[in-house]
Amino acid sequence: MNNFLNVQKKNVVVTGGAGFVASHLADELVERGAHVTVVDSLVDGYRENVPAGAELIVADVRDTAAIDNVIASADLVFHHAAVASVPRASADPATAYDVNVSGTIAVLECIRRHNATARFLLASSASVYGTTGEPYAFSEEDRTAPASPYASSKLMAEVVALSYRRTYGIDARIVRYANIFGPRQPRYIMFDFYGKILRADDFLEILGSGMQQRDFVYVSDAVNATISVLTANLLDGCIFNVATGSATSVVDLAGCMASLMGKPGLKLVTTGKSWVGDIDYLLCAPTKLASLAWHANIDLPTGVGRYIRWMNERGLRTLASG
Ligand SMILES: NC(=O)c1ccc[n+]([C@@H]2O[C@H](COP(=O)([O-])OP(=O)(O)OC[C@H]3O[C@@H](n4cnc5c(N)ncnc54)[C@H](O)[C@@H]3O)[C@@H](O)[C@H]2O)c1
Repeated sequence: MNNFLNVQKKNVVVTGGAGFVASHLADELVERGAHVTVVDSLVDGYRENVPAGAELIVADVRDTAAIDNVIASADLVFHHAAVASVPRASADPATAYDVNVSGTIAVLECIRRHNATARFLLASSASVYGTTGEPYAFSEEDRTAPASPYASSKLMAEVVALSYRRTYGIDARIVRYANIFGPRQPRYIMFDFYGKILRADDFLEILGSGMQQRDFVYVSDAVNATISVLTANLLDGCIFNVATGSATSVVDLAGCMASLMGKPGLKLVTTGKSWVGDIDYLLCAPTKLASLAWHANIDLPTGVGRYIRWMNERGLRTLASG
């Protein structure tokens, strides 16, 4: 039976906490009584995403002088700040490598120099596995073969974290997220489908074959998994897939969204050609999470329904796709 560090009154730093996943993480940590400091440059995040009970430091994670003090007093550091868009990283790989790799080094350097007892978690991605060309759910022991600048930048950040773990004894842990979704997600497939379905009268265009498969994890489930990984006192390995273990095709997702948005009769038309960096299958199995007694609570239709309600309330106004 595992036991977990209680985060109440702990100093917790969440980088990227004005963004989608990590703002939900900050919410939950505040809820559990932690003293939360968010570090975010706001390049892709929104000030209003940061919970009222957290402090926000607007800074670039690569700026060690700006983040030094806050990291020095942290008990836990969740590192989510990144260029998180695959197409954007393909369009500007140099920036993606710099933010995703140098940013990780900067945070770990602060821990190494001031605070080697802090636990550190890197938000990585199931995209590090690449694809086998057939539906296959990778486990943590499988080979990695990143197929885009984004995926390789995440794997490079992992290598850095593991090297700081081995060399300096820093308690670095890694989560590899499948496709996380939910309110506040300002881009990606559900955002795109929402806009297209809203405007569509009779057909919905789907990029690629439509048979691409993804494992969609609702954001609150991903947050609970992430907190469990960093607070667990006993760990089997230090890399954890965060996935439900069940695959959904892009066409099925489109059909589900069209129905939930009141347009079940929309014809789904596939383009054949997809965007640079897209892969057919992005699947992994939550093998190691089972040891932390984690399981997904929110199924796809329930989560998609919540996302659609959030989009209906918020509208498409200030959100940028990409
Ligand atoms: N959403 C997913 O499905 C998913 C899947 C796999 C991995 N991840 C990883 O999870 C993390 C969060 O992803 P997300 O979807 O919430 O993305 P997001 O873009 O919503 O959040 C990233 C945040 O990082 C901030 N940021 C970017 N560059 C920064 C810098 N140099 N300094 C400080 N802050 C900076 C942005 O302003 C933004 O608020 C990322 O590391 C991403 O690679 C996400």
